[in-house]
Amino acid sequence: MTGHEDKSPTAMMSEGTSPDTTPGSKTRDVWIDGSFVEQSEARISVFDHGLLYGDGCFEGIRIYNGRIFKLRTHLQRLFSSAESIRLEPSYDIETIERVTREAVTRNGLKDGYIRIVITRGVGSLGLHPFKCERSSLIIIADVISLYPESMYTDGMSVIIAKRPRLPVACLDPRIKSLNYLNNILAKIEAIDAGVLEAIMLNTEGIVAECTGDNIFIIKDGVISTPDTEAGMLHGITRQYVMDTVAPALGYTIEERSHQIEDVKGADEVFLSGTAAEIIGVSSIDGDQIGSGVVGPITSALAAEFTRRVCEEPAPED
Ligand SMILES: Cc1ncc(COP(=O)(O)O)c(C=O)c1O
Repeated sequence: MTGHEDKSPTAMMSEGTSPDTTPGSKTRDVWIDGSFVEQSEARISVFDHGLLYGDGCFEGIRIYNGRIFKLRTHLQRLFSSAESIRLEPSYDIETIERVTREAVTRNGLKDGYIRIVITRGVGSLGLHPFKCERSSLIIIADVISLYPESMYTDGMSVIIAKRPRLPVACLDPRIKSLNYLNNILAKIEAIDAGVLEAIMLNTEGIVAECTGDNIFIIKDGVISTPDTEAGMLHGITRQYVMDTVAPALGYTIEERSHQIEDVKGADEVFLSGTAAEIIGVSSIDGDQIGSGVVGPITSALAAEFTRRVCEEPAPED
């Protein structure tokens, strides 16, 4: 980092601390359709429908201390996304699991992030998905730095996006598809407002999720989260917080419907996601949340999460 630090949101997003932990600082071996190649050699056709139409699906997964957090759940979600868009993976789940583990060890990663991508494959310029002969599979293992460290201690400012989350009937947000434009356009609203994340409402105005995270609300000691009916990605971190992290501290989490006022009037708000982990929200649309710092319940949950994935062997189920 130079003396002149660019603190624009765009620059903050890729902040790293040292060359080894700076995303993109080290050349990785990437697995693509059957073999590992150096990342500069990993190529995909311009006729791949993943590129032409965002036709495909993906997963993002964390590596903690050499363990791949919730690997099996991520692979199940990947296969379920693929099935929902009638995309047949060219490799079975066991092969993908084996190669994913190999990508981690081969790249010497103890802590990091894995991206698994399945594209529809090479086809013609028409939309027809079934004219693509064979789906492609890409596995990248690298490091990730999503939000600056200071946001975890001071809390993160977010906005409420004007753009609603895609309705379930149009493209079910449960599908982790390669088509993230709905989220990207809401993220651009956030960046334009000088922040890095946006809360998205569904078309009925009910709180759904964020552009790349799920959301939790704490009021009078009760923790709740939007129920999945609102239309969201069924976050694996969200589920882990509900099933394991919160109960370990004696909390149960309610799933229910939330209006904007519920979120803005909360004592604490936090977000969860593979890349973000657990991060407290300090303001929404410039309005302070609670005391404007990361609240005590959020801090306790974040500490418990970190303890379980970093100090204990992270669960791979
Ligand atoms: C739209 C969206 N919602 C929520 C999440 C959080 O899900 P997970 O905890 O499985 O990473 C993500 C990240 O994958 C996401 O992209």
